Amino acid sequence: MGSLSTVLLLILAGFSVFGAEAATKQYKFDVQVKNVSRLCHAKSIVTVNGRFPGPTIYAREGDRVVVNVTNYAQYNLTIHWHGVKQLRNGWADGPAYITQCPIQSGQTYNYDFNITGQRGTLWWHAHIFWLRATIYGAIVIMPKPGTPYPFTQPDLEMNLVLGEWWNSDVENVVNQANQLGVPPPSSDAHTINGKPGPLFPCSEKHTFVMEVEFGKTYLLRIINAALNDELFFGIANHNMTVVEIDAVYCKPYSTNALLIAPGQTTNVLVKANQAPGRYFMAVRPFIDVPIPIDNKMATAIFQYKGIPNTVLPLLPQLPLSNDTNFVKIFNDNLRSLNSPQFPANVPPKVDRHLLYTIGLGQNPCSTCLNGTQFTASINNITFVMPQTALLQAHYSKINGVFTTDFPDRPVKSFNYTGAPLTANLGTSLGTRLSKLKFNTSVELVLQDTNLLTVESHPFHLHGFNFFVVGRGVGNFDPAKDPAKFNLVDPPERNTVGVPTGGWAAIRFRADNPGVWFMHCHLEVHTTWGLKMAFVVEDGKGPQQSVVSPPKDLLPC
Ligand SMILES: *[C@@H]1O[C@H](CO)[C@@H](O)[C@H](O)[C@H]1NC(C)=O
Ligand SMILES: *[C@@H]1O[C@H](CO)[C@@H](O)[C@H](O)[C@H]1NC(C)=O
Ligand SMILES: *[C@@H]1O[C@H](CO)[C@@H](O)[C@H](O)[C@H]1NC(C)=O
Ligand SMILES: *[C@@H]1O[C@H](CO)[C@@H](O)[C@H](O)[C@H]1NC(C)=O
Ligand SMILES: *[C@@H]1O[C@H](CO)[C@@H](O)[C@H](O)[C@H]1NC(C)=O
Ligand SMILES: *[C@@H]1O[C@H](CO)[C@@H](O)[C@H](O)[C@H]1NC(C)=O
Ligand SMILES: *[C@@H]1O[C@H](CO)[C@@H](O)[C@H](O)[C@H]1NC(C)=O
Ligand SMILES: *[C@@H]1O[C@H](CO)[C@@H](O)[C@H](O)[C@H]1NC(C)=O
Ligand SMILES: *[C@@H]1O[C@H](CO)[C@@H](O)[C@H](O)[C@H]1NC(C)=O
Ligand SMILES: *[C@@H]1O[C@H](CO)[C@@H](O)[C@H](O)[C@H]1NC(C)=O
Repeated sequence: MGSLSTVLLLILAGFSVFGAEAATKQYKFDVQVKNVSRLCHAKSIVTVNGRFPGPTIYAREGDRVVVNVTNYAQYNLTIHWHGVKQLRNGWADGPAYITQCPIQSGQTYNYDFNITGQRGTLWWHAHIFWLRATIYGAIVIMPKPGTPYPFTQPDLEMNLVLGEWWNSDVENVVNQANQLGVPPPSSDAHTINGKPGPLFPCSEKHTFVMEVEFGKTYLLRIINAALNDELFFGIANHNMTVVEIDAVYCKPYSTNALLIAPGQTTNVLVKANQAPGRYFMAVRPFIDVPIPIDNKMATAIFQYKGIPNTVLPLLPQLPLSNDTNFVKIFNDNLRSLNSPQFPANVPPKVDRHLLYTIGLGQNPCSTCLNGTQFTASINNITFVMPQTALLQAHYSKINGVFTTDFPDRPVKSFNYTGAPLTANLGTSLGTRLSKLKFNTSVELVLQDTNLLTVESHPFHLHGFNFFVVGRGVGNFDPAKDPAKFNLVDPPERNTVGVPTGGWAAIRFRADNPGVWFMHCHLEVHTTWGLKMAFVVEDGKGPQQSVVSPPKDLLPC
């Protein structure tokens, strides 16, 4: 049993810490437009229940969660429960036109799912257009009753959700850019719990302050909900111990800064053991190629109890924006806990080897500014969104919505990370999926390319966690690189940063039937087509097929 403050926190969060039974946690999400102001600019944004960031979902491992979403906004939308495995239950996963048709204005849909075999920090966000710029929140899954954390029990917990803010209407900004075929402008600020902090104008009310007491230990649940930026995070004078990534416990790793890519979550322990004062918590992007980005620092305050607000906070020493080496060392130090209670079940053998090149391109566009539009592709295929949800087409055996001929490797091989390729950047278009037999063990190498430029891409797979068994710079070498794979305690996650001009190898077992989206979690790249889906066939056993669709399944 934790301290009194932990008990109070859990009770405030709606838990009975003494109850042992799995429960149903019900939430009501009303999607509505609200006026907010930041950086001296007021605008209307789409919110859940009028809150920005939205409400936190609290549950325990084993619980059923039902979220009744009613859409009162002018946009069609869906909500994704990022990192929840949704076993056999893609109906509750949420990516628009992949697993469901959007919830149109005035409609309601119930996301009904069980949380099985997972505990930790995840998050939810809109999964259509760029609406996740303002529609997002945390998911906190507590371990089963009587199961303590496998690390020092914190005195208190705090969610820190990192985001991105545009002064203009995000949907307008993106539509204009798409019509012109050019990249949208970068954001005007980053935010911590929706607030940019005092290094920005008009921030008096827009600074997040976390009050701490000397000697206490805090568990920070940090979520990168930003649209396009990988972020460094640090707290002045305080080291952090990483204990969990993407809701999987890891070997404790002490560091003075973190890298967290869009889609990823990181839990750290921090001890308030420095001279009582005010310390900035800060975020700033990591970008190691010359691409324009919002490079300003957003801050919040780690404030010891009793210290007046007049004390000027100290800034942390974050790595330089282009510090590739810090990122490599940080990622190399993330290892699964791999304890008897929380083993790393890495598939030891591979049934299916996949090599996917990822990168940018340019296709002709007569109405665009330069006669071309930016695009992106996997194995040279720019994914075209269907008009009907793929899971519905798969389940009801509707033909003509997608094909299952996504190539296992590039059709044409080239020097993927050699000199920049700036000519013949066209891609082929299609709604092509890769079909996997139930329970196939898959090894997928995601290979960055130098089409226009190399860039770091955080790749997210729906429906599964995977093990990041290897990473490297340059071109993946199938003869030499597998010998260096970590098959013992590799990090297990749902989103992996593919190194700039390099590759990442992941392994997973396709034991979750359904249609599962995989995409770059930089929203600008998702928009350009850096996405595809796996269709995992039903198995023959009784618990090995997609569950029946819910009664309120929406038509397109
Ligand atoms: C929201 O802000 C806009 C622009 O400032 C204003 O015209 C509108 O009246 C505001 N709406 C509400 C409900 O406050
Ligand atoms: C969900 O919310 C809507 C709108 O408030 C309500 O009509 C409906 O009864 C709720 N419950 C379910 C199960 O749909
Ligand atoms: C919402 O979806 C419906 C049905 O597909 C479509 O007719 C309508 O134009 C969409 N609305 C918006 C604002 O995109
Ligand atoms: C959730 O678990 C309950 C109890 O085991 C089961 O009856 C229900 O079908 C599950 N729901 C889904 C969507 O799998
Ligand atoms: C943080 O860690 C670094 C290196 O591990 C160490 O040199 C430093 O003293 C630590 N700082 C604090 C405040 O504990
Ligand atoms: C990284 O950025 C710093 C400061 O802007 C610059 O001096 C340095 O040359 C850059 N390093 C690389 C490898 O580009
Ligand atoms: C248009 O093309 C020119 C020449 O290649 C380039 O310099 C310019 O940046 C392009 N403009 C846009 C908006 O892509
Ligand atoms: C690929 O390009 C790089 C950089 O130009 C070069 O060093 C390397 O030798 C090339 N590899 C092959 C196989 O041509
Ligand atoms: C990609 O496909 C386009 C259209 O078929 C083709 O022109 C181009 O050469 C292909 N590029 C690569 C790298 O395979
Ligand atoms: C999947 O395959 C693995 C390895 O062969 C096996 O241990 C496991 O029982 C299989 N799972 C199912 C659900 O069939």
